[in-house]
Amino acid sequence: MNTRQPSEQTGDWVARSLASVWHPCTQMQHHESMMPLVPVSHGRGAWLFDADGRRYLDAISSWWVNLFGHANPRINTALKDQLDLLEHAMLAGFTHEPVIKLSEKLSALTGHALGHCFYASDGASAVEIALKMSFHFWRNSGKTDKREFVCLRGSYHGETIGALAVTDVQLFRDAYGPLLQQAHVVASPDARAAEAGESAADVARRAAKQLEQLLAERGDKIAAVIVEPLVQCAAGMAMYDPAYLAEARALCDRYGVHLIADEIAVGCGRTGSFFACEQANIWPDFVCLSKGISGGYLPLSLVMTRDEIYQGFYDADVKRGFLHSHSYTGNPLACRAALATLDIFEQDDVLERNRERAARLTTALMPLAEDERVMHFRQRGMIWAFDAITDDPAFSSKFFASALQHELLLRPIGRTVYLMPPYILDDEESDSLAARTHAVFDEVMRG
Ligand SMILES: Cc1ncc(COP(=O)(O)O)c(C=O)c1O
Repeated sequence: MNTRQPSEQTGDWVARSLASVWHPCTQMQHHESMMPLVPVSHGRGAWLFDADGRRYLDAISSWWVNLFGHANPRINTALKDQLDLLEHAMLAGFTHEPVIKLSEKLSALTGHALGHCFYASDGASAVEIALKMSFHFWRNSGKTDKREFVCLRGSYHGETIGALAVTDVQLFRDAYGPLLQQAHVVASPDARAAEAGESAADVARRAAKQLEQLLAERGDKIAAVIVEPLVQCAAGMAMYDPAYLAEARALCDRYGVHLIADEIAVGCGRTGSFFACEQANIWPDFVCLSKGISGGYLPLSLVMTRDEIYQGFYDADVKRGFLHSHSYTGNPLACRAALATLDIFEQDDVLERNRERAARLTTALMPLAEDERVMHFRQRGMIWAFDAITDDPAFSSKFFASALQHELLLRPIGRTVYLMPPYILDDEESDSLAARTHAVFDEVMRG
């Protein structure tokens, strides 16, 4: 257990950070009471350490970005090599090997169904790009009325104004409501909504009916439907059946609407296949990737799209082009980190090894899954979640604080506890993660 008092150095970091850094997604006053600020000096493998040697198993991959551990030797070597070659060059008018190779490799992973990659830095920027590209494509095709978007109940696509407009998490969007364009919000296929006798696939088909109704009524005004394939992560790891994606693809085809798959959280093997959409045997019109694509090293996001959509912008007229950019678009260091990440997938047969890892952790979590204070225990690929049966509004912050005492970094969403560990846990780490999560849960539920 982590019980020692902070040393002068770590205590000093906390005080200086609170005095000068505005931390993300946080009511800063809470750092003075229920949400302790954790100073980190270094990371190794699945672990984060502070300067006093306290350690935390990063069981949520530092907000779902870290795939192969901290200070991964192979990604480090690639980055050190790249650092001596080219740290950055603008991508407008210039190109470089890492961005070319990465685009080719990603396209090959889709069987070349999505032939072009457009780059940015954060996930929300990729969502903005996909929305803008969809609208602009229809405009270039003479369909200027197609300017509306559809998202799912409980969707999360990021915090910038455009991405927030297709986000249905009231806590994040309420304050900015007057700034946001209205989107259509349709039923989520969340399998937890199953009525008696209904399977997850039944829930998916029921939700798809609502989408169909909307597209039938307003398909000529709608540019795109945006979904988080298979798992709506920020909504509390709402998992759903691939049947929904297959239905959504068919409906989008029928009504001439784009399908945007936001795989920022669920791509890169997180749900068991490299792209989550593969489990529904579909390709969307746009895929957004970020987070894990750089192994959790550097901000990198991208939008992959079909060649027909790319061709819709290809013209002598500059205004028909996609005139969007960010200064760090296609940064060579970030692309090189991504290439090293893809190499690890290939060389270590990661998707197959993850199936073994997932089976082990699921077995180790069974006593927790069967705890009578737990409901909706669920798993897909390398994501596990369950809902605590509690009304305590402070459940999440109590759990976070208690987990730190047990050397775990876990940050429940409301009363949903989830694990999204990096793809490197050994058997001992897996078993210990499961046992400690249960111990923390028991401690918090006993009050
Ligand atoms: C599905 C999804 N889309 C978009 C984003 C936004 O990404 P970023 O925080 O990098 O802007 C996130 C972040 O959690 C996400 O989970």
